[in-house]
Amino acid sequence: MIDQQTINQIFETADIVEVISDFVSLKKSGANYKGLSPFSNEKTPSFMVSPAKGIFKDFSSGKGGNVVGFLMEHEKLSYPEALRYLANKYNIPVEEKELSAEEIQQKNERESLMAVSDFAGKYFSKQLESDEGRAIGLSYFRKRGFRDDILKKFQLGYSPEERTAFTKEAGKNGYKQTYLVKTGLSIERENYVFDRFAGRVIFPIHSLSGNVIGFGGRTLKSDKNIAKYLNSPESDIYHKSRVLYGLFQAKKTIVSKEHCFLVEGYTDVIAMHQAGIENVVASSGTALTTEQIRLIKRFSGDITILYDGDEAGIKASFRGIDMILEEGMNVKVLMFPDGEDPDSFAQSRSSSEFLEFIQSNEKDFISFKTETLLTDAQHDPIKRARVITDIVKSVAVIPDGIMRSVFLKDSSLLLGVEEQVLYNEVNKIRRLKQEQKWRREQTWRKDQQEQPQTTVPQQPVVPGFVENVFSEVEEREIIYFLLKFGNQILHLRSEENTQISVAQYIIREIQNDELEFTNLIYKQIFEDVKNLIERGEEMTERFFIYHDQSGVRELAVDVFTSRYELSKVWKRKEAYVEMPGENLGFEVPKSLLSYKMMVVEKALSQLRKNLEGVEKSSNLEKLNHLIIRIQSLDQVKKALSSGLGGRTIIR
Ligand code: CTP
Ligand code: MN
Repeated sequence: MIDQQTINQIFETADIVEVISDFVSLKKSGANYKGLSPFSNEKTPSFMVSPAKGIFKDFSSGKGGNVVGFLMEHEKLSYPEALRYLANKYNIPVEEKELSAEEIQQKNERESLMAVSDFAGKYFSKQLESDEGRAIGLSYFRKRGFRDDILKKFQLGYSPEERTAFTKEAGKNGYKQTYLVKTGLSIERENYVFDRFAGRVIFPIHSLSGNVIGFGGRTLKSDKNIAKYLNSPESDIYHKSRVLYGLFQAKKTIVSKEHCFLVEGYTDVIAMHQAGIENVVASSGTALTTEQIRLIKRFSGDITILYDGDEAGIKASFRGIDMILEEGMNVKVLMFPDGEDPDSFAQSRSSSEFLEFIQSNEKDFISFKTETLLTDAQHDPIKRARVITDIVKSVAVIPDGIMRSVFLKDSSLLLGVEEQVLYNEVNKIRRLKQEQKWRREQTWRKDQQEQPQTTVPQQPVVPGFVENVFSEVEEREIIYFLLKFGNQILHLRSEENTQISVAQYIIREIQNDELEFTNLIYKQIFEDVKNLIERGEEMTERFFIYHDQSGVRELAVDVFTSRYELSKVWKRKEAYVEMPGENLGFEVPKSLLSYKMMVVEKALSQLRKNLEGVEKSSNLEKLNHLIIRIQSLDQVKKALSSGLGGRTIIR
C-alpha cells in the first residue's frame, strides 16, 4: 500500500508531457501538446495532452485521463504499478502505508502462496535437468518437437514420479505445509501428504505480471482412465475464470498486432509461439468466461477463435462468439479439420504457411454460423428458419448500432432474407431484453425498499410511488453544467440581486425538491460538489480528474475536454443550442426544468398505472389519495411547462 501523501507527491511531481513523451512524440500546439494516437492507427494527430490540467485525451479512441491513467492504459500497468513507475522516474521514495492486522495477514497469506508457487515453478523446470526428468519429461517435450527456448519461455517442467518428492523438498526449504495444500501443489489425506502432479509434465500458469500462480500437469500415460490434465484448484492467488493461459507471454504482441488468437489448449499456445505466432492465449481448463474476454479487450478488440472442428469445439465456439460480440468486440472463427488442433497443424508447417491458412480460412461469425448450420438445412425450411433465428440472436447482442446494421446487411445477403425483416427481429429481441432488465431492476429496487430499516423509514407520499425514475439524458446535462461551469456566477433574471454560482444554484434546486440522481456516478459528483461547497472549498477540475472513482475521473475528463456537448434535450425540443455556456442564466434553469419535467412525467405515468390497480380493488381511501396526488402533480407539470420554475415540490 502506498500512503496517500506519497500518492499526492507523485501526482504533484509527475509532468504529464514528460511522461507521455517517453511513448508518444508530442508537438506543442497552443497551450497543449499534440501527437499521433498511441491507441489507434491514425494519420492526423488527434491525441492531446494538456499540461495545465494534467490530462490527456485521445479523440480517436475516446480514451482520456491523468498521467497514471495513461500508464495504466498504455503500459497495461495496475494502479499501484503505475504509481511506482512514476515514483521511480522522479526519485520519490515510496512510503508504504501501515496495514491493519487483517490486511497484513491477508497480504502475508497471498505472498506465501505466491512464494510457494514460485518455488514450485523453479523446482519443476529444474527437474528437466535431473536423470529422471531428462529421460521422461524432457524426452517427452522433445518428441513433441518443443524447442529449448520455448521450454524456457513457458517455464515447462516435470514432477518426479516419487509421490512425495516435491512436498518433501518444499518442506526442506522452509515452505509450510498449509500453503502447499492451499495452492493445491500437495494433497492432504488423513495421515499423509503427497504431490498432486507426480509423474506429470508441468505447464505453469502465469499472472499478467509474470508470477507463477497455478499449474497444469499432463500425464504421459495413454490410459483413458487417467485424466489427461490435472490443474491447480482455485486459490487466493489463482482464479481460473480470470486467467488466460499465455497472456503474460502474449500481451505485447497482442497490442502490436491489434489482434488475439484464442485456442483451446496449453500445447496449442506453445506450438503457435514456436511457429512465430505470439499473439495467442487459451482459456485452459474452463469454458471461456466474460472476465477472460474483458482481459483480452484490455489489449485488443479483435479475436479469432481457433478451435478443433469436433462437436465440442463447434459448440464452444458458438458460445464464445456471442460472449465476445456482447463485449462489443470483433470475432472471427476458424475450425481446424476434425482430428487436428493448432498444435498438430503448426508442427508440420512454417509460420507463414500457418498464417496463410488462417487468413484464407477464417470467417466472420455470420458466414461461419451460416455455413456450419446450413450444411444440413439447405432444403429444410424449418431448419433454415432456425438458422436465421440463431444468427439474428447473435447480432442482437452487439451493443453498437452501426455494427449491428453492417452485420445485418451481410446476413441479409447470405441468408436471402430482406434486411428490414432481420432488423425487426433484432429489435424485437433487444426490446424484450431491455424490458426484462427493467423488470429485474424494479424488483430489485422494491426488495431494497422492503428491507427492514434501522432508522425510521420515510413514508412515501403515495404508496407504490416509484422513487427512482430514470432520466439519463437530463441527469447528464445537469452534471455537465455542474462540472464545467460550477464556479461561474449565474445571472438569473428572476433573482437579479442574488450572487449565486451555477453549482450553488443546481444544488439548491435539486435539494429543494429532494431529487436524487439515479446514475450513481452523477450522484457521487453531486454529493462531492455539495460537500466542497459546504466546507467552503473551491471546486477544481483537478479534484475530479484525480478522483478515486474511475467512473468519475472518466466523466470529468470527458466534460473538461469537450468543447461543445450538443444539448440533446434541446435538440429534441428544437431549441437546440450549439455552445452551452454562452448564456448560463438561461441554460441552467432550463436544463433543471427539463429534468424536473421528466421526473414528474414518469411519476405521473406510474401513478396512473397504480390508479388502474386501485380502481379494480375499489379501495376508496387509496383511490382518493391517488387522485389528489395526480392532480397536484398535474399542477406541478403545468407550472413547469409554463417555465415558471420556482419551488416545485415534486415529491
Ligand atoms: N483440459 C483439462 N483437463 C482435461 C483435458 C483437457 O484441463 N482432462 C484442458 C487443458 O487446458 C488442455 C485443454 O483443455 O490444454 C484442451 O484439451 P485437449 O485438446 O484434450 O488437450 P491438448 O491441449 O491438445 O493437449 P495434447 O496436445 O497434449 O493432447
Ligand atoms: Mn493437442
